[in-house]
Amino acid sequence: MDKLVIEGGVPLHGTIEVSGSKNAALPILFSAILLDSPFSFQNVPRLQDITTTIRLLRMLGLSCEQEGNTVRTEPGALNPEAPYDLVRTMRASVLCLGPLLTRLGRARVSLPGGCAIGARPVDQHLKAFEQMGARFDLEGGDIVGRCSRLHGAHIVFDMPTVGGTENLLMAAALADGTTILENAAREPEVVDLANFLRSCGAKISGHGTGIITVEGVTSLSGESYSIMPDRIEAGTFLAAAGITGGKLLVKNCPFAELETVVGKLEQMGMEITNSEEGVLAQCGKAGLHGTDVKTQPYPGFPTDMQAQIMAMMTIASRSSIVEERIFENRFMHVPEMVRMGAQITISGRTAMIRGVEHLIGAQVMASDLRASASLVLAGLAAHGTTHVRRIYHLDRGYEEIEKKLNAVGARIERVEQ
Ligand code: UD1
Repeated sequence: MDKLVIEGGVPLHGTIEVSGSKNAALPILFSAILLDSPFSFQNVPRLQDITTTIRLLRMLGLSCEQEGNTVRTEPGALNPEAPYDLVRTMRASVLCLGPLLTRLGRARVSLPGGCAIGARPVDQHLKAFEQMGARFDLEGGDIVGRCSRLHGAHIVFDMPTVGGTENLLMAAALADGTTILENAAREPEVVDLANFLRSCGAKISGHGTGIITVEGVTSLSGESYSIMPDRIEAGTFLAAAGITGGKLLVKNCPFAELETVVGKLEQMGMEITNSEEGVLAQCGKAGLHGTDVKTQPYPGFPTDMQAQIMAMMTIASRSSIVEERIFENRFMHVPEMVRMGAQITISGRTAMIRGVEHLIGAQVMASDLRASASLVLAGLAAHGTTHVRRIYHLDRGYEEIEKKLNAVGARIERVEQ
């Protein structure tokens, strides 16, 4: 198992480029199940979760190859079973459920694993598929879904779920009749999926709002689509400029989709400007100061940036409060940051952070994807050496992170433990 060894205290300077979005790429790749044509997906990040998705698509009967940032798929005889060995490593595997049900009328998918950030049920997905005519049984830890043909329905989600909205969007694209998704997630990745499906002939409107309408069509096909840039990776780079007191030009940065994050970083004292070249981010002369953040569904502050902004708060002047409203168990980075000298107390879903002069390098353990990123940020800012263990989480979501950060001055080494 690899770990990252980070020599902290170096301000980052230079140009850094954002890769394609993992969270957009996953549902878009699973949509290959819906297609009647060979397809070329561009700007796909090279990440563990993408490798898992490709393996899963192959097991489900598609031909699928990755070359650099391109993934090519070809339709094949579909097999409706997603095996536990693959699914347990990636929660998003549940996104094959909608495409399989709508194409084959059958699907067997293990109950998902993935990041350890709370219970994360899929009840909303299943309830909605039931409204479209599917029945589900739990057999040996697998969700087994059956239907003759999915039909349109008026679905009202209890909460705006990203994965649920995506799964239903894919299923509804080829279902009989019209589906209305109410209280739908408005995340940019949902919009990217809808844009991709539309480019293949799907009839979708209202994406990006809380009500999405999908008129089912009989087939979907196309040639090529380029995945949107990763707003969370981009936000992490902006935070890296801020926490190290450096200055970064972040290229390929989805600025409009980062409005709330940029607003908070500016409140903390960062100067961020968007231009044709990219987004220039640096810490203002007065340094970082505390702020309050509450995570919310888009366009609110993303839970996937919560740990990273908390890393910045640990060395900001004044106190900060972070309220985590999406996942109940997403403060696992806190005890690790405390080991680095941060002053953080947790009460339920709220963390209170008192900024300290500086963090001190320590041995820390990554617990989930974004927590890992926050520990890398903390390590970049800390005095001394930080060892971040269990970085397989990081590799699930950040393409060549140490290479990118080292190119702008970071001193990160990947070593085998
Ligand atoms: C996606 C993202 C993840 C991000 C999250 C919230 C991917 C691959 N992952 O996860 O990085 O942190 O959105 O922006 O895109 N819920 C239920 N029942 C359900 C579905 C969800 O109770 O059937 C709850 C969840 O427990 C959570 C909330 O709804 O509290 C939001 O979850 P959801 O938006 O579905 O997150 P994911 O799609 O899993």
